[in-house]
Amino acid sequence: RKDLITLEELSLDEINQIHATAAAFKKILGRSVKKVPALRGKTIVNLFLEPSTRTRISFDIAAKRLSADVISFDASASSTTKGESLRDTAENIRALGADMIVLRHAASGSPLYLSKLLDIPVINAGDGAHAHPTQGLLDTFTMREHLGSLKGRKIVILGDILFSRVARSNIHALKKFGADVTLCGPSTLVPRHLTALGVTVSHDLRGALAGADVVMLLRIQHERQSANHFPSLGEYTSMFGLNKTRASWLNPKALIMHPGPINRGVEIDNDLADGPNSVILEQVTNGIAVRMAVLYLCSGGQPENVIAAD
Ligand code: CP
Repeated sequence: RKDLITLEELSLDEINQIHATAAAFKKILGRSVKKVPALRGKTIVNLFLEPSTRTRISFDIAAKRLSADVISFDASASSTTKGESLRDTAENIRALGADMIVLRHAASGSPLYLSKLLDIPVINAGDGAHAHPTQGLLDTFTMREHLGSLKGRKIVILGDILFSRVARSNIHALKKFGADVTLCGPSTLVPRHLTALGVTVSHDLRGALAGADVVMLLRIQHERQSANHFPSLGEYTSMFGLNKTRASWLNPKALIMHPGPINRGVEIDNDLADGPNSVILEQVTNGIAVRMAVLYLCSGGQPENVIAAD
């Protein structure tokens, strides 16, 4: 597969192959090996036209660990500020010799558009409210490290689902692994029609959290909402914010996850974000190995070569 656009289009075998390759890279890096020569001589351009901390730095580090040359595009100092289109920007980057583009963009569908236009791999690093496939891959990778098989596991995704590309990518991956997914939050952010994704929708926090193996919290994305939204941050916290009392409804060993950035004190209290059940920073660390696997496989790398070397 040349590109990674969504997890919906990947088979379970393909996701397993990415996870196995990521696990092998993680083992190799765990032996204090700083770099592998897999993508030496390749140039990867990180074309981020929306803000990012974790994804952008993680793709930068992943490419460097693979010995690729990495160019991180600074949108605010680029000709996009003069009105240059995405198409012209990408075609010029290709003409400059890029071998791969990692794209984050506010418009859903922009990575698919570029993947059809260009003859080099395009990796979706988050497009609007549509998909964030590497986040879904690293989240399920982290769950599998802790829980083993995800079949029949109760996974609750709590918060702003309507505007969440992270939720969509996780739902597609988790369904392929046979997990039992519940979406929970206020009806304005978790509308009933999301059951079409093959998940349970609940507005009853206690019932949703009861016996859950994982709770994944999502930030309220005010930047994607219209004015006069409901609930306000304060209303959301009082109804759905995760605090110690509400966390006691979970399975005692439940994993607490968050893709970041966290709004501390809004969707989650500090003592839970930093507590023993939190794997939030493990998710971030795993992002490097998972993105190494994606960059390597989309450039035509053979998983056996990495798995055999680990
Ligand atoms: N999880 C995530 O996409 O974070 P960033 O927006 O900081 O990349």
